[in-house]
Amino acid sequence: MKILITGASGFIGSHTAVELLNSGFNVFGLDNFCNSSRKVVNNIKKITNRNFFIYDCDIRNKEFLCYILDKERPNFVIHFAGLKSVEESILDPIKYYENNVYGTINLLSTMKMFKIKNLIFSSSATVYGNTKPPFDELASVNIPISPYGKSKFIVEQILFDLFDFNTVILRYFNPVGAHDSLLIGENPSDIPNNLMPLITQVAYCSLPKLKIFGDNYDTPDGTCIRDYIHVTDLAKGHVKSIDYLVANKGTHVFNLGTGKGTSVMELIKTFEKVNSVKINFEIVDRRPGDVDVSYASIEKASEKLKWKTKFDLDEMCRSAWEWEKNKRGIS
Ligand code: NAD
Ligand code: WQD
Repeated sequence: MKILITGASGFIGSHTAVELLNSGFNVFGLDNFCNSSRKVVNNIKKITNRNFFIYDCDIRNKEFLCYILDKERPNFVIHFAGLKSVEESILDPIKYYENNVYGTINLLSTMKMFKIKNLIFSSSATVYGNTKPPFDELASVNIPISPYGKSKFIVEQILFDLFDFNTVILRYFNPVGAHDSLLIGENPSDIPNNLMPLITQVAYCSLPKLKIFGDNYDTPDGTCIRDYIHVTDLAKGHVKSIDYLVANKGTHVFNLGTGKGTSVMELIKTFEKVNSVKINFEIVDRRPGDVDVSYASIEKASEKLKWKTKFDLDEMCRSAWEWEKNKRGIS
């Protein structure tokens, strides 16, 4: 079995490559490296002691995609390549639709040309909008507010129409942490927008203060609740999804989360406790589009994929801080 990972040098793609290689799969990647480093390739090889290669290719480049698919003939594609900043997508929506929607259509039509019809797609909990938690896969989806969220929603809708493809749509909750080797982790080219990398930057003092977006939500401490999941647990969910797709044709949707909600304030306090560091913060206005509470129903993934998470919140906070320190050369 041969698997192509698009976005293979990114945060989740690199961890998934490691888990697949460690499980014995034949894996290769493609990435345009717009939000990741070429060094990831060697680090994946070091961790796994396996051969691994990433083509420097943009998913919008049909000619190069044809060349790769013709040469490699993968049986499965795991599609991570995409842009992921909610904020940037509001400022430049066309960039997001072009990359995430047009890029995906280009990938799908090229896969079809080469009769490659097994796909795993990275979607997001953002498609649930403000429904009642825990979010289960049968809940109706809502058109997200941001162009980033909409791009995930649109691609999901396209995939539901592809009756001749076998597809697993994975809705990730909030991935954090890094591989325990500390050779791969989240390494955005720009200032991060997600909470955990911002916390680690405040802990490192490269940002003076964390801005908490609102403390007047309908939650016990007034700050928003999210379902944080360790990236290694998330990556293992992809290995299980391949196994599932081999045995079950059709289109399937699974949440990948822990099923546990944690507030922004709880995350900060846990980070401070396990890492013995202080996080300076201030409360500011709500960020438009944030929902009060988001956490996954995990029954379906647990029962059908035979998958469960291993890392708890303490370990996620420890892992995120160890990665940040290692990146900066402190131990
Ligand atoms: P990431 O930015 O670390 O990885 C994405 C990779 O795709 C990067 O290496 C980037 O260089 C590459 N890429 C982007 N556009 C490309 C293009 N046109 N052609 C080829 N390569 C391209 O992000 P991530 O956190 O690993 O996310 C992976 C996927 O999961 C994305 O689709 C993202 O939207 C989705 N997702 C992420 C989260 C999260 O919080 N990290 C949550 C839900 C869904
Ligand atoms: C988490 C909580 C913020 C930053 C988004 C996308 C989703 C997925 C993950 C990625 C919220 C609060 C944050 C800050 C804060 N996409 N916060 N101060 O919003 O749950 O999900 O990222 O590819 O699709 O929608 O994650 O990490 O941005 O925020 O108080 O400076 O932290 O209000 O409650 P979110 P997040």
